[in-house]
Amino acid sequence: MKKIAPSSDINSCDQGGSWLYSDIVKDHFFHPRNILIDEKDYESDGIGIVGSPACGDVMVVWIRVDAKKQTISDCKWRTFGCASAIASTSMMSVMATENGGLNLKQAKRLTPEAIMDRLGGLPDRKYHCSVLGHLALREAIADYESNQLEKVNSTKKTSS
Ligand code: FES
Repeated sequence: MKKIAPSSDINSCDQGGSWLYSDIVKDHFFHPRNILIDEKDYESDGIGIVGSPACGDVMVVWIRVDAKKQTISDCKWRTFGCASAIASTSMMSVMATENGGLNLKQAKRLTPEAIMDRLGGLPDRKYHCSVLGHLALREAIADYESNQLEKVNSTKKTSS
């Protein structure tokens, strides 16, 4: 099993190679961590939604941020995607929140390669599935930062 597909493979669906999944991938697929089935009562600080141009699947990530520490205190997600997308986003959510949570700068630098390493690899042709979670996380952080900016601006307006 090759761990990481070259970036030119991102949109490819018709290549050869192994379809074997690691035990860690199977564990995260059958027992996904931090999945959010119903967001009705979940208050988030930022939301990221991305779609895959390769397969049309969609990923949503919700984050809560510790504003004082600027760290990810909670990371939830849901996808209409495949086993690889589920496993890689489950792992992404663990990596974003473990040990007190990544700070926002570290979280923005989280890569699909780092996620795949922790999963013990993914089949070559599933690379595009692994990018959905980390891209949605970046979108959620951007949404949080934009919300913060809006709050600062509206405070300035009301105090002037
Ligand atoms: Fe669409 Fe994996 S095939 S996310």
